Amino acid sequence: MKLIDINKVDVYFKDKLVGHLFDNGDSTHSFSYSDNWLRNGFSISPFKLPLEKKIFTCSDYLVNGMFGVFYDCIPDSWGNKLIDSFLSKQGIDIRKVTLLQRLSLLDKYSLGGLSFKPSFNEKIDISSINEFDKVYKKIKLFLNEDIVNDLDLYHYGSSTGGSRPKINYLIDNNLYIVKFPSSLDPLSIGEDEYKMNLLAKECGLDVPDCKLLNSKITNGYFLTKRFDYDNGEKKHVISLAGLFDLNPSLSQIHYLGFLQTVKTLCPEDLKEAVKRMIFNYLIDNKDDHPRNFSFIYDETNKKYRLSPFYDITSTPKINIHMMQVNGKDNPKLNDFIVDAKKVGLTEKEVTEFYKKLKSKVKQFSKIITK
Ligand SMILES: Nc1ncnc2c1ncn2[C@@H]1O[C@H](COP(=O)(O)OP(=O)(O)O)[C@@H](O)[C@H]1O
Ligand SMILES: [Mg+2]
Repeated sequence: MKLIDINKVDVYFKDKLVGHLFDNGDSTHSFSYSDNWLRNGFSISPFKLPLEKKIFTCSDYLVNGMFGVFYDCIPDSWGNKLIDSFLSKQGIDIRKVTLLQRLSLLDKYSLGGLSFKPSFNEKIDISSINEFDKVYKKIKLFLNEDIVNDLDLYHYGSSTGGSRPKINYLIDNNLYIVKFPSSLDPLSIGEDEYKMNLLAKECGLDVPDCKLLNSKITNGYFLTKRFDYDNGEKKHVISLAGLFDLNPSLSQIHYLGFLQTVKTLCPEDLKEAVKRMIFNYLIDNKDDHPRNFSFIYDETNKKYRLSPFYDITSTPKINIHMMQVNGKDNPKLNDFIVDAKKVGLTEKEVTEFYKKLKSKVKQFSKIITK
């Protein structure tokens, strides 16, 4: 079967059939769980696809009629650019490639634990990556010329999310993401993101292991350990956008919605969530859209938990935060208190978090500007 003919995919989680996803041909999609998954599995999207024997239909035009949990798996601008270029080179008209067909193109390192069959991308090889400056040179060439000149870059990066160039990187059965500057970024972007991750860690936030990789042509490349891939085993992940079938680039949810979601799914993570909200404002991380917050399914305890914190960067060039606090673009301590109180935290707790985080951020800015 050709890619272009596919209008149905089987959805798997670690070799177990989860269900079937159909392209209805009218910009809507339908999904149903398999009987076996209904008996032994879990809801892959607890608000939109509860574990029930029925045919769900998604007609929300904002995410192209695709369920958020599957839309999450489809790469953003970076991965899609690589895929489009790869397909165009084979003479395929990319305007005709549907979202469902894009799920068939994902490789085994795609985000989260879901996979889709038929698959057109099983023979992926990322074992040969060793020189990151070389990879960055290929990326620059690709960004300038818009065509994939060799298959390496496509293999390394086509299933990664986000807009900044990035690749998957495997060491001893552990998977990492390495991020590179986009054509708009300063060459210090990797170092900046690394420092922000160190600061978040210093503030006691849950941050994946990370490193700054040496480079002769930039200030270094940011490497982060994949939290959805533990010793070769994949985990199911769904973003805040995915949970509610939201378009990740629109401000359709704010911090209160995020906190209420955390309270519903994993109240034990509420304090961490409140701290991330305050931290993002203190460090000026305005790229706080709902794909930059995720939840992981914990199979042992059979529940969702807040994922580690990721994509932590200061974004002075962006005007306003994607998510407001208490309806404000420039919230003060009292606004953090108002939203956090609505989910059960006390004024005293929030004030304490705010003061501690503020003093750490201040100390840190002194160190890095020295
Ligand atoms: N450490 C990580 N583990 C697992 N997934 C991650 C990790 N860091 C980022 N991601 C996923 O990759 C996507 C893109 O990464 P991100 O850092 O947000 O890149 P960008 O700066 O391009 O937005 C995220 O939306 C998230 O789904
Ligand atoms: Mg991001």
